[in-house]
Formats: sequence, structure tokens, C-alpha cells
Amino acid sequence: MKLNRKEILTALESISVAGEGSNMVESGAVQNVMTFGDEVVVDLVLSTPALHIKKRAEVDVMKAIHEKVYEKAKVKVNIKVEAPEKKPEIKGKQIPGIKNIIAVASGKGGVGKSTVTSNLAVTLAKMGFKVGILDADIYGPSTPIMFDVEAERPLSVTVDGKSKMKPVENHGVKILSIGFFTKPNQAVVWRGPMAAKALNQMIFDAAWGELDFMLIDLPPGTGDIHLSIMQSLPITGSVIVSTPQNVALADAKKGVAMFQQESINVPVLGIVENMAYFTPEELPENKYYIFGKEGAKNLAEDLEVPFLGEIPLVQSLRESGDIGRPAALQTATPLESAFEEITRNMVQETVNRNKNLPPTEAIKITTMAGCSAVKKK
Ligand SMILES: Nc1ncnc2c1ncn2[C@@H]1O[C@H](COP(=O)(O)OP(=O)(O)OP(=O)(O)O)[C@@H](O)[C@H]1O
Ligand SMILES: [Mg+2]
Repeated sequence: MKLNRKEILTALESISVAGEGSNMVESGAVQNVMTFGDEVVVDLVLSTPALHIKKRAEVDVMKAIHEKVYEKAKVKVNIKVEAPEKKPEIKGKQIPGIKNIIAVASGKGGVGKSTVTSNLAVTLAKMGFKVGILDADIYGPSTPIMFDVEAERPLSVTVDGKSKMKPVENHGVKILSIGFFTKPNQAVVWRGPMAAKALNQMIFDAAWGELDFMLIDLPPGTGDIHLSIMQSLPITGSVIVSTPQNVALADAKKGVAMFQQESINVPVLGIVENMAYFTPEELPENKYYIFGKEGAKNLAEDLEVPFLGEIPLVQSLRESGDIGRPAALQTATPLESAFEEITRNMVQETVNRNKNLPPTEAIKITTMAGCSAVKKK
């Protein structure tokens, strides 16, 4: 008989924990589970040294495994006593009124996530959609600069008797940014729990109102904050931004893999190729493929995810970001057309996704020593 770790965890989930309103696994008491053939070792951490509680936990674990998995399993329970550490956790809740939540990610930093997010947002707004940006970049929140609202702070409003944060608004887009919680010019190192708390407030203690699209500007990489976001929000789909060179593509691939991981399963709506070629504004016919040609487009084909379109490297795109007026606001320009095409494709992919797949569920992630079990809620 070969015991399965996942089945053991499921069995342990049937053990309720007093006062926690959850089960033994969710409460964090189960630190690790290891199986060797018909043997299973369960490491528990309890917050109380009381002998009868320790005994009861041991008996509960044995009983759950014997009754639900294998009656002859050899169970060993190790118990450690530790004062509980309270982590602020973002809980998976639906946000009423928000139809589609789209995460913009990249893997590699500096490839243009924030630029793409801000221009997609204003293009969606021009198309008549109600749009919000949640700037979740804990390392370098740039949305306040790109929308020229750096000096603003969200006001407090009362909704149904509760005090809520009112997103700042400019160019037809509602914005909440982790940058509103920090002082300008001050380097803030956000530790995981602090960042999670701030994000939690921006998501659930905010008066977003009705939104067709909430775009989330993610920090670079595939780290903890990404997991926190996926844990907290039912994300409709993700958009991956990459530049064409290999070093960026390798990271974009990791980004796609993160969303497609079986336990996370957020549909990838498509890949955007940014800085696809350099073009001098006065000579728009001249295209210089300084980072290589069609790298992200080829990656999309390889990974069998949609290609949403390309954006050239143009000086005015950077300038418009710096002055807080996204380039796509300016009409009748090649940049406006490029962003319109990408936005149309993204909307179409969102429609397809909503037609063909059930809504994404926020996931519950339980981290254990040396391993992590990720399961659907
Ligand atoms: N297509 C482009 N043409 C010209 N400049 C661009 C283009 N895309 C992005 N930039 C500029 O490159 C810089 C980095 O872009 P951006 O901040 O959008 O990247 P990011 O992926 O969000 O970075 P980070 O990983 O730090 O969050 C910005 O100054 C932006 O204006
Ligand atoms: Mg950014």
C-alpha cells in the first residue's frame, strides 16, 4: 500500500479546530506530511502545551487517516508547541460589481507592464468600459506617475454604513496603488504581511463601484505577492508582457507557466510584444528590430496562447508615461491603433474565456515546511 500525501491532507482537513473556524490544515497546524509506503509522518504545530490537547490532536490525526485513507496505515505524529504567529491573510472573496479581473504580468522587470496596463486601461475607457487599475507593484508602483496622480490620496467614503477608500480617478480610470500608502521619494521595503494587508484593503475596503475590467499591474517575477493576489481574487485571466529578446522570453515563459500551473489555473488571455521594434517618430516606415524580431509572437505560438499584438519602442510612449498622460489617449496616432488592436483582442479573448470556461476561483494556498499544497477552495 502506497499512501498518497494529498489524500492524507484531505483527511486532515476533516478535523476541525476549536476557535479558528477552520480545519487543522487551514489553521496552519499541519506543518508537514510525509509518506513512505504505508507509513505517514505528520508534523503538527500547536499553540498550547496542554497535554490533553496534544493527545487529542494525535488521536484525531490517527483516526482521520485510519478512517478516511487506510485503516492499517502506520501513523507517526510529531508535535511541536509554538506561540501562534498571526499572518494577515487575504481571503478568497468575490468582489461584487467587478466583472473581469485581469492580471498583467511579465516575469522580467522593466519590459513595460505598467505602460501596457495604463494604455490598455485608457483604451478600454475610451471604448466605453468601466475600468479600474489596482497597482500591486510593491517594489516600484508606477501607476500614480503614469496617471499624474502622485500627490493624491484616496478619500474616505461611507458605503452601507462602512467607511471605504475611494479610488483616485483620472483619464476615466479608477486607480488604487500601493504607492498611495508610501511617502514620495521614500524607499519602502514592503514585507510580505504588510504588502498583503495593504492589498487586502485596496481590494475589499475600497469603493470600486461597478467595473467591467479591473486591471492588476503586478510586480515583476513570479513570487509571493503573485500568490497572494491569486489567493485573494478570482482572476478572470492574465496578460503577459514581453520584449522580444531571449532573456525576457525565458522569464515570460515562467510567467505563463505560473498561471497555467494546475493548482492555479488562471487562463492566459495572451501575450503582448512590447518594444517589438524601434521606430523614429519622424520616419515611421523605418523599423529597427534591436531586440530581435517577433520573439514574443513566436513564444505565443510555441505555448499555444493567443498573441494580442505588438507595440513599437517609441520615444513618445516613454515621455507620455513620465508626464502622466498615457499615449493611447492621443487620437489618430500609430500608438493609439496599436493599443486599440491589443485591447480589442484582449476583450475578445475575455469574451471567449467567459463563454468556454467556468469562473476562476480564488485559490487557497497552505504553505508547509519544505513543500506547499495548493488546492481549490
Ligand atoms: N514601447 C515603449 N517605448 C518606449 N518606452 C517604453 C516602451 N515600453 C515601456 N517604455 C518605458 O520603459 C520604462 C519601463 O516600462 P514600465 O515601467 O512600463 O515597465 P514595467 O514592466 O512595469 O517595469 P517594472 O518591472 O519595474 O514594474 C518606462 O520608462 C516606460 O516609459
Ligand atoms: Mg511596473
